[in-house]
Amino acid sequence: MSQLFFPYAKQSISEEDRWATAEALKSEWITRGPLVQEFEKTLAHYCQVPYAVAFNSGTSALMAAYFAAQLASVDRVISTPNTFIATIGAALNKQSRLQLIDIERSTGNLHLISLKKHLHCTASRGRPFIVPVHFSGLALNMAALDHQICHPDTVVIEDAAHALGSYYPTGEKVGSCAYSDLTIFSFHPAKTLTTGEGGMVTTKDAALYHRLQMYRDNGIEREVPYLKQQAVAGYYEVQNITGNFHLTSFQAALGLSQFQRLESFIAKRRQLVKRYRQNLKDISHVKLFTDAQDHYTAFHLFVVQVDFSAYRTTRAAVMERLKERGIGTQVHYIPLYHHPVLARHEEEKAQYPEMEHYYREALSLPLYVDLTENDVDTICEVFMNTLRNK
Ligand SMILES: Cc1ncc(COP(=O)(O)O)c(C=O)c1O
Repeated sequence: MSQLFFPYAKQSISEEDRWATAEALKSEWITRGPLVQEFEKTLAHYCQVPYAVAFNSGTSALMAAYFAAQLASVDRVISTPNTFIATIGAALNKQSRLQLIDIERSTGNLHLISLKKHLHCTASRGRPFIVPVHFSGLALNMAALDHQICHPDTVVIEDAAHALGSYYPTGEKVGSCAYSDLTIFSFHPAKTLTTGEGGMVTTKDAALYHRLQMYRDNGIEREVPYLKQQAVAGYYEVQNITGNFHLTSFQAALGLSQFQRLESFIAKRRQLVKRYRQNLKDISHVKLFTDAQDHYTAFHLFVVQVDFSAYRTTRAAVMERLKERGIGTQVHYIPLYHHPVLARHEEEKAQYPEMEHYYREALSLPLYVDLTENDVDTICEVFMNTLRNK
């Protein structure tokens, strides 16, 4: 064992990362400077998309995406219960109507057939905002989702917080906005690439790009022809109350430095997942997500689904025991409608049989770049022994 405790996720910071971040602090611009623009350009180029705007978190990136697309309270937000609250937080604040769609247990993603039924059966005054999450890095089939859209004003915002570097089953890169209006990423330390905290939104649309920048900058407008009054030197207008969501230059420097290793990060994560699959493939009462898209997936999480009752134990007991034995685990995710903030949806549990079943069984095992294949073997052995109460 190469270390005493394996957390479920962890950043990988190199000497080069430390050096690049420290160098950025010597610059005249420690925020809003050229490094931020370079980081944006690098990501836009990587995703094959014209525009990218950096934010200080994935959460603010999502808030900006909803703002850019002008979500209104009359609109309907259609998403998955298998996600982090940030996916729909801005929509709840806006008091837009929320419709969660059940998931597919073989991917953890929104179930496209259920989505289809929903899109066809509910007519309403507002626009539908479809907000899929590419759970654990496994990309949803966005071409298939696109095919189901029947309302001409539909807005699609992809929450790709988990999926930088993944491809759709149809071969386009996540972030390209091939089938969406906006895509968001997160650079939290658990994610494939980190800036400490940070996020990014990509889009192909110049008007959305403009609004994303305005959102980040306290709702301030500086540019003709968007100004309402005449432009003179030093003049700007506050046109909306938003907030300050800028990424600093030294965070951008860290992101750029990490970018140079992104492909190796993805390859390493894929290799570790392959090893997990080899170790766990024939274990009874343990299910893994489909491997059909492994070659297209930049894995963020490694989730197993375990019938804990078949082992006469509970997930909580297994998590406690694993922790004592040096292995950190997590649950991704508690269904959104279980949280008090969405309490009105709690009674609707029956609508989400797949999510409920998945939630009973889901457990995320450690996955990060600095793990070795031997570490994965050790984790699997301890995990199996713990399940068998050894
Ligand atoms: C699916 C999903 N969306 C959004 C976010 C928010 O990202 P951040 O933590 O960078 O604010 C996260 C972060 O964990 C996430 O997992």
